[in-house]
Amino acid sequence: MRVLVTGGAGYIGSHTVVQLAAAGHEPVVADSHVNSRASVLPRLEELTGTRIESHSFDLRDADKTSALLGEGGFDAVIHFAGLKAVGESSQIPLEYYDNNLGTTFALLRAMDRHGVCRLVFSSSATVYGETDTVPMPEELETRSTNPYGWTKVMQEQILRDVAATGAAQVALLRYFNPVGAHPSGRIGEDPQGVPNNLMPFISQVAVGRRERLQVFGDDYPTPDGTALRDYIHVEDLAAGHVAALQYLQDHPDVPVREWNLGTGHGTSVLEMVAAFEAGSGRAVPYDIVGRRAGDLAAVYADPSRAEAELGWRATRTIEQMCADTWRWQSANPQGYPA
Ligand code: NAD
Ligand code: WQD
Repeated sequence: MRVLVTGGAGYIGSHTVVQLAAAGHEPVVADSHVNSRASVLPRLEELTGTRIESHSFDLRDADKTSALLGEGGFDAVIHFAGLKAVGESSQIPLEYYDNNLGTTFALLRAMDRHGVCRLVFSSSATVYGETDTVPMPEELETRSTNPYGWTKVMQEQILRDVAATGAAQVALLRYFNPVGAHPSGRIGEDPQGVPNNLMPFISQVAVGRRERLQVFGDDYPTPDGTALRDYIHVEDLAAGHVAALQYLQDHPDVPVREWNLGTGHGTSVLEMVAAFEAGSGRAVPYDIVGRRAGDLAAVYADPSRAEAELGWRATRTIEQMCADTWRWQSANPQGYPA
């Protein structure tokens, strides 16, 4: 399949581009580089051994998005493009609603105009909101506590409504906590500014870019008091997209379906720190500080639906996640070249 990968220069998109090519598909990248570097593209070509067609523009530009899909030959879209920082989304909510919904509107209109039907969408475990239910099955009600999360809840609903008309066939993939990097160390996560997420923060401390990690809370009702998350290797996540694309092709009668992409296991913050120290051979000094507002004690997936229906399951261990993150971070201490 010729597949438009929006946000294909970003963290998860870039890893998925490599796996799409390996599976015999033809990925085409569209990215504004608002949160990524164009210098990832030659590395994608190096890893795939093929030329990767790429387009640099803001997908909210409906004319440009339509012109790209109008070039023809597209069999599917994987929509990663979006803003994703939970905290920032409360400071600039309008930017989040405009960007995340606006890209989806422009894409859906362009797909409709040019007869492209299949869409795989980057959703998130954040759509389960503040729930105590773990593991989390797809049947849970969706809601949010922050603008970023609401954009995902709203985009899911928009996509369900459009799928119900027969105009699109949609896979909603709810990621848990993506971490890790391609085992080559050539591509990985490169957050701009201070990382919001645990793993890039740990790896920047280990490589000497930051002094100490702050551990947000050690008084949760968990074995060591720190919060549990379902960390999933980005390579497993990328494989989930290839599996979802195949599912859509094989099940043209299914208009829309949600799948959790997680491991089903919770790992604590301190377990992650210890695993990273072991994998990197570097110390990760930390201070225990108060809880971060909005954090839950435990978040992990019930991944059984994806296993039963997509034939997919996460296989990589926490040790591999740490080793691959460290290979990327130590070889690229400042991330991608500007
Ligand atoms: P990322 O920021 O690395 O990648 C997103 C890409 O989209 C970036 O390259 C950015 O430049 C591009 N982009 C943003 N707005 C755009 C626009 N208007 N036009 C064109 N390009 C635009 O993030 P990621 O971690 O790879 O996440 C990809 C998707 O997965 C996002 O939709 C995110 O919300 C979702 N997601 C991420 C996580 C996570 O923890 N990383 C978890 C759940 C869901
Ligand atoms: C993990 C754990 C923190 C940083 C977020 C989004 C979610 C999804 C994935 C997009 C928590 C602790 C963190 C630090 C810490 N993204 N932590 N010190 O919050 O589970 O999920 O990313 O859809 O929507 O909310 O991930 O990596 O920020 O935190 O102690 O400096 O690490 O408290 O327990 P989170 P995270």
